[in-house]
Amino acid sequence: MQLDKRTQDIFNEFTANFDGAPTHLAIAPGRVNLIGEHTDYNDGFVLPIALDRDVRVLFRPRSDRQVKIYALEFDSWTDFEIGAFQWDDDQLWPNYVQGVSQALAETGVSLQGFEGVVSGNVPRGSGLSSSAALEIAVAKAFLASANQIHALSGPQLAQAAQKAENEYVGVNCGIMDQFISALGEEGHALLIDCRSLNYRRVPLPADATLVIGNTKASRSLAGSAYNERRAQCEDGVRRLQAVLPSITALRDVTSAQLEAYKNLLPETVYRRCRHVISENERVHATVEAFEQDELQRVGQLMNASHTSLRDDYEVSSRALDVMVEAMRSYPGCLGARLTGAGFGGCAVALIRAGSEADVRQAIRKSYATTMNLWPEVYISAPSSGARVLPLT
Ligand code: GLA
Repeated sequence: MQLDKRTQDIFNEFTANFDGAPTHLAIAPGRVNLIGEHTDYNDGFVLPIALDRDVRVLFRPRSDRQVKIYALEFDSWTDFEIGAFQWDDDQLWPNYVQGVSQALAETGVSLQGFEGVVSGNVPRGSGLSSSAALEIAVAKAFLASANQIHALSGPQLAQAAQKAENEYVGVNCGIMDQFISALGEEGHALLIDCRSLNYRRVPLPADATLVIGNTKASRSLAGSAYNERRAQCEDGVRRLQAVLPSITALRDVTSAQLEAYKNLLPETVYRRCRHVISENERVHATVEAFEQDELQRVGQLMNASHTSLRDDYEVSSRALDVMVEAMRSYPGCLGARLTGAGFGGCAVALIRAGSEADVRQAIRKSYATTMNLWPEVYISAPSSGARVLPLT
């Protein structure tokens, strides 16, 4: 197999650190979400794409249950035996790897160890799901090493990776990031029902391009505020159950019901619920607009999503608002919104294809002028989800 430059570099690291050569390559992408924010943990709907940026693991199965991995960007190692989970205080990434092995073992798959080198080009800590990409790439490497690559379906793989993050790393995320990393498809977004885990492909039209603006602003509040938002949604559900006993999540509540029973909710909880319920409606409206090729409508829905996240859900930040404005002021821009958990990280914009040439520079300049911070701008086509390739 002819290796591209990036994979060749990882290959060379493998041969420098282990005897012999790797036998397989596992690849799992990061993601950007077009619309449907903070809906996944409310059993709702999301519309993400897999990015053309990914985490790669070049590996060779072992015949025992030992795992030895070198992480190129961190210049650090992990070495552990499957089943003997031990929290690593010094570095975070090995905890994801160990968590994945635990969660996979809990599905009943009998695992084997491997030795490997891991390397990624998904910007870290930027809301583009580098952690989910790491989890899914490593999960694929575990399954392939045990000759069990088909033991779990894509949704089951995503659930195991989410469990690793929830129960072993202690981050209370929903299923979106792992799901799209496992199942993304070239040229398409996926409409995912986060309750049933059914999904369908939504082709992205050739006359639109996705632009991602990385604010480079820190997301320090993200963890605690994320959990607080989840708790507020659950509180809303509990209070609404007094009059709507059959609901189990905000997914089950309509806008009309929310308005009718508004007086049962504290004002902040009401606004959190209003975001989630209206965002689910916007996801469906966006899919419809894509399918009818009404790109302007998609842009308006993205703009409305940002307003709702900023004012009702309160997860935007000055940097994100400035980035969204910088994107919207670009002439070909149809709409822009923050993407991912918020508080910092990235925004996503839909722009008319053909005007990409200077979009990076224009957005960077306009953002930097106000923020005094140099952002990064990426253009990404919807790409394939995770896969394992034999190298021999
Ligand atoms: C993070 C979480 C996801 C999702 C988004 C917000 O990316 O990992 O599960 O909740 O925030 O939509």
